[in-house]
Amino acid sequence: MSELAVNVDHIATLREARKINYPDPVIAAGICELAGVDGIVCHLREDRRHIQDRDVKLLREVVQTRLILEMAATEEMLNIALSIMPDVVTLVPEKRVEVTTEGGLDLTTSKGNIAKAVDTLKNSGIKVCIFIDPDPEQIQIAHKIGTDSIEIHTGAYCEAKTEVEKDKTFAEIVNAANFGKKLSIGVNAGHGLCYNNIKRFKGHDLIQEFSIGHSIISRAAFVGLERAVKEMYEIVKDL
Ligand code: PXP
Repeated sequence: MSELAVNVDHIATLREARKINYPDPVIAAGICELAGVDGIVCHLREDRRHIQDRDVKLLREVVQTRLILEMAATEEMLNIALSIMPDVVTLVPEKRVEVTTEGGLDLTTSKGNIAKAVDTLKNSGIKVCIFIDPDPEQIQIAHKIGTDSIEIHTGAYCEAKTEVEKDKTFAEIVNAANFGKKLSIGVNAGHGLCYNNIKRFKGHDLIQEFSIGHSIISRAAFVGLERAVKEMYEIVKDL
């Protein structure tokens, strides 16, 4: 059965829009856990546009399920990870100008740097996940450098406009997930998933953990966070 990890970055985005002390992503994490989620995700970006260092520290103290820290493989972030000790670090690419994470890590060009980060994190007892596009070549490299799991970037599927494009991009995810499973690494998925497009995963039994943020936090503005999380949780558990 798949698990649901909720990304609370966009609660912090709302807070940072006013640079005040609410709404608090730490309280959001508590509500998500009370609603039954399997993990809490946050992305500490170099520019601190949403999640702040203080949030990660407090999340480490209060999260009782699994704390998953998304971060770039920089020296600064590695030092933070080693002092906070999240349960999992998901290594992501990061560009200052992007609106959100735009693509998976390209391991064909950044293999050395990522391999070093994987070693450092694993040697400290932190599990590592690498966010990559649904590309077997990338998955093969991720496996070689010793990652515990991969998170398949579902953005191309979620943004597909036509049925043909949706079929093609979803088939790529299925193919990539099967390949990851064959290599015995954990296979997660995320980016752009919502209450509708996630239903396509039903019956495939391929994904260990779905990492979802924006659609849940958006729905929460209308129905409340607990209900928004529970509605997604029920879909995920029924896939
Ligand atoms: N996984 C990763 C690696 C991400 O960078 C993001 C976006 O922060 C997500 C999952 C969640 O994407 P969304 O907010 O579109 O659900």
